[in-house]
Amino acid sequence: MLMTTKPMFDLAYAGSFGVGAFNVNNMEITQGIIEACAAEKSPCILQISKGARKYANIRFLRKIIEACVEEYPGVPIAIHCDHGDTLDLIQNCIDDGYTSVMIDGSHHPYEENVKLSKQAVDLAHAAGVVVEAELGMLGGIEEDVVGLNAEEYAKNIEKFLTDPVQAQDFAHRTGIDSLAVAIGTSHGAYKFKHEAVLAFDRIEKIMKTCPGLPLVMHGSSSVPKEFIDLVNKYGGNMPNAMGVPEAQIAKAVREYGVCKVNIDTDLRLALTAKIREVFATKPAEFDPRNYLGPARTAIVEMVKRKLHMLNSAGKADAVIAEWKRQGEPMPGYYKTAAAV
Ligand code: G3H
Ligand code: 13P
Ligand code: ZN
Repeated sequence: MLMTTKPMFDLAYAGSFGVGAFNVNNMEITQGIIEACAAEKSPCILQISKGARKYANIRFLRKIIEACVEEYPGVPIAIHCDHGDTLDLIQNCIDDGYTSVMIDGSHHPYEENVKLSKQAVDLAHAAGVVVEAELGMLGGIEEDVVGLNAEEYAKNIEKFLTDPVQAQDFAHRTGIDSLAVAIGTSHGAYKFKHEAVLAFDRIEKIMKTCPGLPLVMHGSSSVPKEFIDLVNKYGGNMPNAMGVPEAQIAKAVREYGVCKVNIDTDLRLALTAKIREVFATKPAEFDPRNYLGPARTAIVEMVKRKLHMLNSAGKADAVIAEWKRQGEPMPGYYKTAAAV
């Protein structure tokens, strides 16, 4: 069932679980995610980056997600814009039937971030769509998400972490529904050089200055060693890759106010490792169904593993009941949502 993230986060905050926000770029990835969520009875957020809109053409992605909503009515699904950077893009996402958007003004000076985020909230809330914004700076570089380079980030990390006092002012002045915080994570497969640690003391302080505000962790792939080993065994070259230990993510969602956990890199790894394995072990194979099929199964397994780490398995029915209890977010919302 299509919905905003509100009932998900309300239950997650109170109920010691987190909702996985998985990046979708094509049919096999999306099918793998939704199949895992259906099997584990878990809510999920399907998130679409600017790069994904460009790669797949949003009209195709919309239809794939529409099929998920129809095929799996028992799975609570939110469609989310990942790292939206302009009001035009936010408006396009609202028009495309997204139920949640992220406005990422974290690279702007503070007052500009406040202004941009507030404008996004005004646009989105008028359409019954919820908003995530970001404060603090994440490292790592993605195609359309440019952060700081690893060296610069590691040197200045304390300075880039979310300031709890500023977070209170930011949430108050923008009216956002959730806040992406910089607590030591970064995008991509190379997050830490030595010890992987999250700044739990920061999360704790932010929870004190922003009580009840759902927090979002970007850059939360764990980069499991067994997948890196497989990639490297079958011809890849990913030395020294390191992610966020799963135990720390499990702690963040169970003991802290982290309600949304963003995962993209681990899906890429699962897909890539399996395709490499098929190509390396069956060099005569050239039917795409025989490598994309196993790759899709690898996504299913990866997502199931995440849902247990996040403690969101088994929560689907409760989220749907909460969504129904809360009622239509605003008159006309379902008309917008039906566009998807
Ligand atoms: O945070 C960024 C996501 O991993 C999306 O990456 O911009 O390459 O689609 P992308
Ligand atoms: P990873 O690169 O750790 O998967 O993070 C993805 C993300 O934050 C998407 O917004
Ligand atoms: Zn991100």
